Amino acid sequence: MRLKDYFIELLKEHGIDSISTSLKLISRDPIQQMAVYVANGKANVCRGSEGKAFKLNGEPVSEAKAFVGDCSNAVFGRDELIERTEGFPYVVIDCQFYDLHSKKEKSKVKTQLRATLGVIRDFMWDDRLAITGKKIQEFERFYSESTASFIKEKNFDRVILLDPNAEEVYSGEKADCFIIGGIVDKTGNKKGWTSKIGRDLEREGIDFTSAKILLRGDTIGVPDRINTIAEMVLLTVLDGIEVEEAIRRVQSNLVARWRLKKELPKITKRLDSKRPFRFVLKSDFRKFDWLNLSYRDFLEVCRQMDYIVVDDSLFEIIQKFEFDEVKGAYKA
Ligand SMILES: C[S@@+](CC[C@H](N)C(=O)[O-])C[C@H]1O[C@@H](n2cnc3c(N)ncnc32)[C@H](O)[C@@H]1O
Repeated sequence: MRLKDYFIELLKEHGIDSISTSLKLISRDPIQQMAVYVANGKANVCRGSEGKAFKLNGEPVSEAKAFVGDCSNAVFGRDELIERTEGFPYVVIDCQFYDLHSKKEKSKVKTQLRATLGVIRDFMWDDRLAITGKKIQEFERFYSESTASFIKEKNFDRVILLDPNAEEVYSGEKADCFIIGGIVDKTGNKKGWTSKIGRDLEREGIDFTSAKILLRGDTIGVPDRINTIAEMVLLTVLDGIEVEEAIRRVQSNLVARWRLKKELPKITKRLDSKRPFRFVLKSDFRKFDWLNLSYRDFLEVCRQMDYIVVDDSLFEIIQKFEFDEVKGAYKA
């Protein structure tokens, strides 16, 4: 469940079946955004209609029963909404290595933090984000001194550190707190930095699990931006989506193509003629429906790898040629 689902429950209990606001709406989901305004303590739910109006399923209407804004006799506000929620995790971005990044990387970390806040607001509200280890301009209000002190203060039961170098594989387990490294890998070698966060936690006596997100056994194809990791986890734990599907939903074409480059050599076939070549079948594209790829992406990767894409009917003819088991090739 997302925050808006609890918001809708509460509205219905108060006999409200449509909601409006004159506050700025920038999200694709106006009801979630109104719920965030309330949970952030920026507005209450009041009787009457103001600004843009929606049914609770997000469809626009001309007028609503209530509005999200400012009034003296609110129907409900932040406390009643937050009390109602359960099972929302905290997302901690550990930025202790911020100063070790280049100027360009620092700017990327900030861009990803902004996007992560956007993700947090798509599912929950601002209180659920913490940025530890470094007070970064623009994000001061999310700052906590260290991940360990934040965890101790909140007294969490179950903590998961998302670490691409962990032994365990993440398969959708829920937790009170998910830790992501505030790390951008553009220059230098930052391999293993997330595990250093884990070693700090061990030193502080914190009980946690490190887990890596894999796509069919490999980190290649798993987007590694801070915000995409947060989104995958929240899609899994709050929307109940399987990890593989969550990865596919946040995967960029570029990341999907990297993975395709790793997969294609496993399925190509060889034809030894005057000019030997490797080929794949048009229908092989369907084998990769677990990657966020268009048929054009598939053709482009085959072109880059010098594989010919042959029609399946042509392959029926090739199969009649002699097959050399040692070379693993058809002979024309
Ligand atoms: C760009 S990655 C940095 C990884 C870093 N170079 C390392 O080797 O630890 C940023 C953060 O995203 C998370 N992350 C990225 N890919 C992940 C994966 N496949 N599994 C788990 N966490 C991942 C980690 O929390 C990591 O600290």
